[in-house]
Amino acid sequence: MSWREAGETVAFVPTMGALHKGHLALVEGARQLAARTLVSIFVNPMQFGPNEDLAKYPRPLPEDQKLLADAGCDLLYAPSAAEIYPEGFVTKIDPGPLATILEGAFRPGHFAGVATVVAKLLLQAMPDIALFGEKDYQQLLIIRRIVRDLNIPSHIIAAPIVRDDDQLALSSRNAYLSLEQHKQAAALPKILVETADQLTAGGSIEMALKEGREKLAAAGFKLDYLELRDAGTLAPAHNLTLPARLLAAVRIGPVRLIDNMAVIG
Ligand code: PAJ
Repeated sequence: MSWREAGETVAFVPTMGALHKGHLALVEGARQLAARTLVSIFVNPMQFGPNEDLAKYPRPLPEDQKLLADAGCDLLYAPSAAEIYPEGFVTKIDPGPLATILEGAFRPGHFAGVATVVAKLLLQAMPDIALFGEKDYQQLLIIRRIVRDLNIPSHIIAAPIVRDDDQLALSSRNAYLSLEQHKQAAALPKILVETADQLTAGGSIEMALKEGREKLAAAGFKLDYLELRDAGTLAPAHNLTLPARLLAAVRIGPVRLIDNMAVIG
């Protein structure tokens, strides 16, 4: 008998593998919220740009399988690219204006790739709930949007960012960092906290962002953006009357890091 026939609820955690404690926290959340936990591992070619790291993205499947078994995951779905994108596949989901700002401005087409694969995975699995990390905050908002717009019958649950001891947000891409670069990367969350504190203390938003950008440059990062946005719409935040989010993307050498933080007025 299938889980659904047995009346068991299903929670789904989509991933691209190279699992770390951030992913495993989602699996733990899934276990608490539903009778059955399903995880997918699929390095989705459609969300990588032509000059991005698709070929070298880490794919340690045996280690991932062991981590998931130990974490109490009931089922792993690890399809091939041909299974997800069969011959002749052309349909794309365009997640609208949210997909063209911040990450979308630096990674054209990225969120169409994310939205398309997440919609496909949700429709294949039809879970009661699906969990996503706030690490990819803009992705989370876009997924909420497409689920609402397309009447996909799953509840989307957000989980907080899991960080290393030095506060660097865990990411599969941190594997690209040398020890030295990892130390340098830890300046990113530190500068975000300082900027968020300055904003909470009532400083000028433009001044706090300017100082934050200068600190990031001084710490050796190439800055893609540091912005304060409305936490619900990602429109520029001009005051702190509504929940706001500080979002950043920086580069160290070829490695791109993203991070974000809530700012409470
Ligand atoms: P991936 O980067 O593998 O992330 C899978 C899920 O784990 C996402 O929801 C992401 O936000 C979450 N996550 C990653 N690092 C985290 C951290 N440090 N703390 C909390 N959550 C974290 O995001 C993707 O894959 C893909 O775009 C996907 C949604 C699977 C579509 O291909």
